This record gives sequence, structure tokens and C-alpha cells, in this order.
Amino acid sequence: MTRITIIEPSSPDELDRYYQLRWKILRAPWNQPPGSERDPLDERSTHLMAVNSARDLLGVGRLHFNSIREGQVRYMAIAINNQRSGIGTLILETLEDLARRLGAARIVVDARESAIGFYRKRGYRPTGPGHMLFGQIAHIRMRKILR
Ligand SMILES: CC(C)(COP(=O)(O)OP(=O)(O)OC[C@H]1O[C@@H](n2cnc3c(N)ncnc32)[C@H](O)[C@@H]1OP(=O)(O)O)[C@@H](O)C(=O)NCCC(=O)NCCS
Repeated sequence: MTRITIIEPSSPDELDRYYQLRWKILRAPWNQPPGSERDPLDERSTHLMAVNSARDLLGVGRLHFNSIREGQVRYMAIAINNQRSGIGTLILETLEDLARRLGAARIVVDARESAIGFYRKRGYRPTGPGHMLFGQIAHIRMRKILR
């Protein structure tokens, strides 16, 4: 397998590609326009992207804080052809490490029902219903206690 690196998008081009992948995986399939993949918390979040040695973008994810002790991961999106090859785990683990270093005691996610198994494998447990997206994508709130 090619070497995969987790980096923070820094140049305008990297940021463009970061948001494009988020849109392509999480918004375009539901006919949502470009721009719909962003929210006001983006400005005070940490963004990570997985790239290979050719700098191709393979996956993205974001961390923000709900309080000083609680981090939240959102917008995990792996390029279609690269799903199920460990990249989501790499990004999530890096976001968890960062949250821990910044003082978080726990991380929450609102998982799409189709992604619950992924988070469960990483130690997240359901705590209740999450938000409903576009009136059709149900989310389950899940939480992991950081050690
Ligand atoms: C869900 C997603 C982020 C997971 O990332 P990934 O790189 O495909 O997952 P990984 O390869 O790191 O998988 C880690 C483990 O979780 C499992 N897994 C991955 N996706 C899963 C899913 N949707 N359901 C159940 N298990 C899943 C894998 O089989 C793997 O198990 P293993 O360790 O026993 O082999 C990615 O598939 C994706 O972007 N999906 C579409 C968008 C999406 O649903 N995002 C989440 C929104 S909440």
C-alpha cells in the first residue's frame, strides 16, 4: 500500500480540494449544492486530510469542541475507491489524539446509520438520536470516552 500521510490543509488549493471531497461524498448524492458542505464552525475547527505520496486526496475529517471537555468529529468522508482500506481509521485516530492533547475527556459524533459500525469498531457507543439531515438521513449520537 502506498504511504498515507495525515496533514492539515494549508494552501488555498488544498482547502479547495478538502471541501470538494466533503461535498462529493456527503452532499452531492443528495443533490445539495456546492457550499452546502460548509458550516460556521469550520472557522474554529481542525481539518485533516489523508494524502498519498502523489498528494492525491483520499479522505477528510474535522474536529471542533462543544465544551472544553467535549470534542466532536464531523464530516468524515473517504473517497469512494479508497473506502474500507483503513484511511477513515487513520483520520479518526489522529483527530482523537489531537482532542486528547487539547484536553478533551470525550468525543461525540452524529453517525449516519450506515456508518454506525465504523464508529462502533473505534469504541464509540450510541447515546441517543442525533439530528436528521435533509429530512431523510437519520443520525445516531455516539460517544467515546478518551483515556
Ligand atoms: C464511514 C467511513 C468514514 C469509514 O472510513 P473507511 O476508511 O471506509 O473505514 P476503515 O477502512 O478505516 O474501516 C475501519 C473498520 O470499520 C469497518 N467499517 C468501515 N465502514 C463501515 C460501515 N459503513 N459500516 C460498518 N463497518 C464499517 C471496516 O470494515 C473496518 O473494520 P475492520 O477493522 O474489521 O477491517 C467511510 O467509509 C465513508 O466516508 N463513508 C461514506 C461517508 C460517510 O458515511 N461518512 C460518515 C458520516 S457520519
